[in-house]
Amino acid sequence: MIQSKNPALNIDKILLSEDVILPRVQELGRQITQDYQNKDVLLICVLKGALVFFADLIRSVDICFDLDFVQLSSYRNNTQSSGSIMFCRDLATDISDRNVLIIDDIIDSGLTLYHLRNCLLSKNPSSLKICVLLNKPSRRTHPVVIDYVGFDIPDEFVVGYGLDFNEMYRGLRHIAILEKE
Ligand code: IMP
Ligand code: MG
Repeated sequence: MIQSKNPALNIDKILLSEDVILPRVQELGRQITQDYQNKDVLLICVLKGALVFFADLIRSVDICFDLDFVQLSSYRNNTQSSGSIMFCRDLATDISDRNVLIIDDIIDSGLTLYHLRNCLLSKNPSSLKICVLLNKPSRRTHPVVIDYVGFDIPDEFVVGYGLDFNEMYRGLRHIAILEKE
């Protein structure tokens, strides 16, 4: 049992242990290495959640890359069927004619990546792909093609390995299900 400051939000169920996550991240790294052989790629980390995944992934690829960061916040309407995103931190790099790979922690409704993808496409990259560690397919409202997926997971709220609940739990080495009591 991992204690949080709020006793109602303790977590006790590990969904993906470090032993399971790291080999899968290395496998994704090998796949990306194969697909981007002899290409120059810009890896974009979607802050903050993808930070830990990004750090492990860039050490698992053997390609020529630059990196950059974006941070987004989303506005959802009541039905969650639309909404938009705002850049809290925009790219520092010109992505036109670049091979771009977005790295995110998790795709849930798809809202964030749907809008981010459209926004980046309007800047004319020569290619644009998406890599996520976690996919909750049952929750999708915005269809987005994901090129690299670490794990499909059930519809549970997960924390750890960069993912947070109210900024807590990002430093866990594993991914756990947050039990709300
Ligand atoms: P989407 O726009 O609904 O696909 O949500 C994407 C963002 O919501 C992710 O990048 C996360 O920041 C956050 N999120 C969605 N599900 C979870 C979860 O289970 N744990 C932590 N954050 C989540
Ligand atoms: Mg995120």
